[in-house]
Amino acid sequence: MTTVTEDWGELYKKLDSFMASLSITARDPRRKGHLIKVLHRAQHYFGYLPEEVQKYVAEKLFLQHSEVSGVISFYNYFTTEPKGKYDISVCTGTACYVKGSDKVLSEFEKLLGLKDGEVAEDGVFSLNSLRCVGACGLAPVVIVNEKVHGRIDNKDVLGVIAVYKNKEGAENE
Ligand code: FES
Repeated sequence: MTTVTEDWGELYKKLDSFMASLSITARDPRRKGHLIKVLHRAQHYFGYLPEEVQKYVAEKLFLQHSEVSGVISFYNYFTTEPKGKYDISVCTGTACYVKGSDKVLSEFEKLLGLKDGEVAEDGVFSLNSLRCVGACGLAPVVIVNEKVHGRIDNKDVLGVIAVYKNKEGAENE
């Protein structure tokens, strides 16, 4: 995931070379099929998919902006808002909710000083609630970036935060 100080020009170049490798033309019937792949890559580079990036992808894939934004809003995974370096998502789907995920979310809010949907000022953490992520057997589920933490109760929250604070500390040494 990028930081706000990273040069977007470089990120566009990386995205261009990825799209070039797909050899897409205006008449290519596969271009819609490639859209999700390209959006995944764009989100990986930019950290999120602001309108500027959406329009860029639409133009390069010879699609309407509305086709691109429609796909983004359909999939939970995609985000149009910036995220923290460690993006914490608490599942509040039914299976997780009945096992106390509302308390888990509140504990993250309290310990991080963030509300659901906010990014910390230093950009290290962001916090969100999500609908079912398809891992109900592990309820309540917390996902940090792509790592799944299962059967988390509110007493585990401090430990989960500590793992990523320690990582951050080690990277800055
Ligand atoms: S309800 Fe949380 S993973 Fe399904």
